[in-house]
Amino acid sequence: MDTHQFIPKSLVNNTTKLSFTWKTPSNIALVKYWGKTEPQIPKNASISFTLSNCHTITTIDFTLKSTSEANNNEINFELFFEGKKKQDFKPKIAKFFERILEYCPYLIAYNMVIHSENSFPHSSGIASSASGMSAIAMCLMSLEKSLSPIELTDEFINKKASFLARLGSGSASRSIEGPLVVWGQHPAIKGSSDVFGVPFPYEVHEVFKNYHDAILLVDKGEKQVSSTVGHNLMHNHPYAKQRFEQAHDNLFKLKSVFKEGNLNEFIAIVESEALTLHAMMMTSMPYFILMKPNTMEIINKIWNFRKETGLHLCFTLDAGANVHLLYPEKEAEDIFKFINTELVAYCQNGHYICDRIGFGAKKVK
Ligand code: DP6
Repeated sequence: MDTHQFIPKSLVNNTTKLSFTWKTPSNIALVKYWGKTEPQIPKNASISFTLSNCHTITTIDFTLKSTSEANNNEINFELFFEGKKKQDFKPKIAKFFERILEYCPYLIAYNMVIHSENSFPHSSGIASSASGMSAIAMCLMSLEKSLSPIELTDEFINKKASFLARLGSGSASRSIEGPLVVWGQHPAIKGSSDVFGVPFPYEVHEVFKNYHDAILLVDKGEKQVSSTVGHNLMHNHPYAKQRFEQAHDNLFKLKSVFKEGNLNEFIAIVESEALTLHAMMMTSMPYFILMKPNTMEIINKIWNFRKETGLHLCFTLDAGANVHLLYPEKEAEDIFKFINTELVAYCQNGHYICDRIGFGAKKVK
């Protein structure tokens, strides 16, 4: 893969102060990314719905360093999360900046102050790495655009932002554009790549427009096992090979599902992906379980509801206990009633978030 295209050839570092703000969304995978090799190369291609309401807003203020400061070759930044200095998030971002320095040499020319906030509560068990890393990547690309002597196209900016975000967190590569993004090389998806996400380039049936995702917050606590640790446990996993093949086949199948609008087939693939992800966790060594009793209660309620009503409500899970309820716009009213009367009871403090499919990063101001 040609990653040289992401190394800027020449830049003009003479603007002393610049500031950019971006709002970038979270995403929910339909075919899951679980297993990777260095440097953040996925073992299988994944596809996700970009979300809308769950997002991060990040501002980066860039101030050109003095010559002596710049000679230190150090990456210098301050980090504020929801208005407060956040030392514990710093190491992850510092590691991210080191990883991308080769592609963003301007990181050592500027002192940076980062202000970030999420639309969803920090302790909601919703991963903020996808929206958080993609927001930083977009701010860096705005800086690069201002420093570049040649005009950068929006296509290049999105591609490189996704490439950078991926090096911060794999799923963040799918949070730059929307409404459906594929990350990982796959023969059925033209232009797909292991090093950046691309918008799904084929016809999508009307029924998937405005698709809903209601996120039931079953457990808002910190995860006992991080995604990074989970991904690593896919090395030497007894079912890894079959799992990667299955994900590959599921993406093939989803391509025609999206074209034809076959919701029953969609449900079968998406729920199987969610349960297989958790089956991989339960069968790794050491094994672990991230679902909670209420996750199971909700799943059973959904299956009964579907049997009784024939409506197309289904679930997916990420690496945690929360349940994402996916359903089409035209059935939203009945399903929303069901969520409120039957499912809210299983959420911690009755909390859930109503979201729907979104269109990616937006510049603020
Ligand atoms: C279960 O992107 O959080 O949500 O690359 O180590 O940061 P890192 O992992 P991360 O993994 C996400 C895993 C998942 C499935 C998915 O989003 O595809």
